[in-house]
Amino acid sequence: MRIQPAKFLRGKINLPGDKSISHRAAILSAMATGDARIENFATSADCASTLDCLRDLGVEIKKENNTIFIKGIGKNGFSKPKNALDCGNSGTTMRLLSGVLAGQNFDSVLIGDESLSKRPMRRIIEPLMQMGANIESENNCAPLKIYGKNPLRSIPYNLPVASAQVKSCILLAGLNAKGKSKIQSPKSKLRVPTSRNHTELMMRYLGAEIEGDFVETENGFVEEISIDGNSQLSARNLNIPSDISSAAFFLVAASCLKNSEILLENVGLNPTRTAIIEVLRNLGAEIEIINSREICNETVGDLLARGGENFASSAFSNIIGGEIIGNLIDEIPILAIFGTQIEDGLEIRNAAELRVKESDRIKAVVENLRRMNARVEEFADGFRVGKSELKGAEVDSFGDHRIAMAFAVAALFAKGETEIVGAECASVSFPEFFETLEIAARRFINNK
Ligand code: S3P
Repeated sequence: MRIQPAKFLRGKINLPGDKSISHRAAILSAMATGDARIENFATSADCASTLDCLRDLGVEIKKENNTIFIKGIGKNGFSKPKNALDCGNSGTTMRLLSGVLAGQNFDSVLIGDESLSKRPMRRIIEPLMQMGANIESENNCAPLKIYGKNPLRSIPYNLPVASAQVKSCILLAGLNAKGKSKIQSPKSKLRVPTSRNHTELMMRYLGAEIEGDFVETENGFVEEISIDGNSQLSARNLNIPSDISSAAFFLVAASCLKNSEILLENVGLNPTRTAIIEVLRNLGAEIEIINSREICNETVGDLLARGGENFASSAFSNIIGGEIIGNLIDEIPILAIFGTQIEDGLEIRNAAELRVKESDRIKAVVENLRRMNARVEEFADGFRVGKSELKGAEVDSFGDHRIAMAFAVAALFAKGETEIVGAECASVSFPEFFETLEIAARRFINNK
C-alpha cells in the first residue's frame, strides 16, 4: 500500500462495529436461550473467526450485511466440533472460547495463525486448570487441547495482569462452574476497572448473576467480580457501537492536520476505553463528545475532531504510564505517531504487554519510526519519541493490523510517499480502513 501525504481530513467517517463487543455479543448470544439480532456487528476478520468457531460448535448463525442472527443454544448446548477450531489471528477468540470450552462435556482443539501460536496462553491455562479442566499446549502456546468438564469448580482468582481477555475467559468458564467464581483485578489508584468491562456489562444485560465492587486496600482499590454458575442468559437484540480503537486513527490524523474536521457517529465510549480521548485532549487535541447516550448497557456518543495547533500544553505530562495503560493498550501505536507531531514528543512506560500482542508492538513502532526519520528511543516497557519531521519510507506492518493503520496515518504527515508492506492485515480489525482514509483525504482534492 502506497500512501501520499495529505493536507486535511474531512467529512463523516463510517467506522465498523466494535471488535471486542462483537466477540462477546456472538459468544454470549450463542450461550443464551432464544434468538438474537445483532446490528452493526464488526466486519473484522477476527470476529469472523469467532463466528466460524461458533458454527463449528453447532450454533446457527445467519448474516445479512452487518446484521447477524444467532439462535442461542444455551450454555451447555454446544456440540463437539469435528475439526480443530481455527481462531486465525484472534487472541480474543482463543482466550474467550477457551473459557467456554473448559466447561463443556467434550474435548476440543483451538489453533491459530503463526502470530497467535506464539502468544502467551499460560495466563488462561492456569485458572482453567484450577477450575478442573485439563489443557495441553505447546509450551503454554497454541494449539490448545481442552479437555472440558461440567460442572467446573468455582475459584477465587487474582489476575496477575490487567487483561480483559483473561478476566472474560474466567467469567465465561464461571457460567459452567458450581457456585460463585470470584476474580480480583490488579490494584489501582482509582476506583475504575483496570481493563475493559464489556463482558461484565453484556452478561448483566442478558440476565447473568454477576456482581462487581471495589475493595479499598492500603495502597489502592481492587475490583472484585463474582459470577454465579447458576446464571442463565436470555437472548436480547443487540446493537454494537462503532469501535473507538478504529476511531483513534482518524482522531489522530484529523487532530494533526490543520483545517481538518471529521464526525464519527455512534462510537462506543465505555469509560474503560476512552483513555485515548482523555490523553489526546490533554495533549491539545480538539475532540468534542456530542449526544452521549446508553445503548445495551454501553455508553455511546458522536465525536467531532478538528485539526489544531495547540499541542502539548505544558499543564499535562507527556509521559504516559501506570494504570491508564490498560485502558489505552490498543491505541499506543497510533499515540506514538501523535507523539511525532507534538512539541515535547511522548514517552510511553509500563507497557511491556505490547510485546506480546499481534506483533511486538514496541519493536515494530520503534523500527518503523526510525525508518521514517523519527527520533525514538526503545525501552523494555515502552519508548520515547521526539517531535520529528517524518520522511516517506518503506515500513513493515509486521503482520499486525494496528501497526499497518498507525503507519498509514504517519504517512499522511510525512514528506514524500510511504509504502506499507503487508498492509492487507488491516482487515483483522478494519477491512474498510484504507478506503475510508482515502475518501476522507480525497475530499480535500475535490474541495480544492
Ligand atoms: C481485548 C483485550 C485486550 C486488547 C485486545 C482485545 C478484548 O487484550 O488488547 O485487542 O477484547 O478483551 P488483553 O486482554 O490481552 O489486554
